Amino acid sequence: MGNNLEDIARALVAPGKGILAADESTGTIKKRFDSINVESTEDTRRAYRDLLFTTEGAADHISGVILYDETIRQESADGTPFPKLLDSQGVIPGIKVDLGAKDLANAPGEQITEGLDGLRDRLNEYRELGAKFTKWRAVITIGQAIPSEYCLWTNAHALARYGALCLEAGIVPIIEPEVLMDGDHTIERSFDVTSRTLHAVFTELRDQRVWFEEMLLKPNMVLSGYECSEQASDQQIAELTLKCFRRHVPAAVPGIVFLSGGQSDEDATARLNTINAMGPHPWEISFSYGRALQAPALKAWGGDAANVQAGQEAYLHRAKMNGLARSGSYSPEMEEKVAA
Ligand code: 13P
Repeated sequence: MGNNLEDIARALVAPGKGILAADESTGTIKKRFDSINVESTEDTRRAYRDLLFTTEGAADHISGVILYDETIRQESADGTPFPKLLDSQGVIPGIKVDLGAKDLANAPGEQITEGLDGLRDRLNEYRELGAKFTKWRAVITIGQAIPSEYCLWTNAHALARYGALCLEAGIVPIIEPEVLMDGDHTIERSFDVTSRTLHAVFTELRDQRVWFEEMLLKPNMVLSGYECSEQASDQQIAELTLKCFRRHVPAAVPGIVFLSGGQSDEDATARLNTINAMGPHPWEISFSYGRALQAPALKAWGGDAANVQAGQEAYLHRAKMNGLARSGSYSPEMEEKVAA
């Protein structure tokens, strides 16, 4: 891998590989730990991330890992700093740099992501700590009269300001506008809102000189709202998602890396697989999953040091399945074989 930004962006979407999002904020990881009755302390968080990052064989399917501010400063059990450990495996260290979504003024139910003040200095520090790429997540909610254009364009503007600062700092930005899939809306509505969102995002990126070759896009798939009575098939999801991207994502973008956004781990893999099976596409289409890569590992570990190996096996399995979905080579029967 060369060291220019386009090389790094392309290495992150290398064939057969994708990104692990392990950048849960302290509040979010507490929620995940609550679900397995484990207390969230600096040390339990470190031990859990150590389990993931020392999984042998994961690097065959994982190109990069997104860390959190606390995690990028932590160490493996043998004293190796996490970014150095990942680097030694050929896994590219990254970092979440946004400071979370807050209420957007005068826009009930809508949010804006904060974290631009002081970002230039933080990026320089993270680069010194070993980060080669970053992530910033904007949150778009679908409701009766939302999202407003006000919400879409202020979030797109912030994403582009973040992206431009990353290019200046010599770091690849992952641009993440997440249209939430909570609600009872149809897949057509998800298509419409995702289209409006990507239109605003790529307009702002262009205007603010964020060169498309040097970034990655992390979008939602176009799905039926989770509470919608009619759930689209994987085939419909793949077709509408690709239709939306072909209209709005320039071919110069090296890769699209999905978030999982609350889909089950197997659904997230199967849908990525269906999308890739319909290729070739103008961009690499990959994953940057949090929950869909980690949920079975978290459960198998359960906070008990005696279960580290079981946790690692569960994580490696999901990494492998998603790696296969990169080329449309996954099938659900592969899940049963391993479970047997
Ligand atoms: P999920 O895959 O759990 O949605 O997390 C991905 C992510 O990084 C969201 O910002």
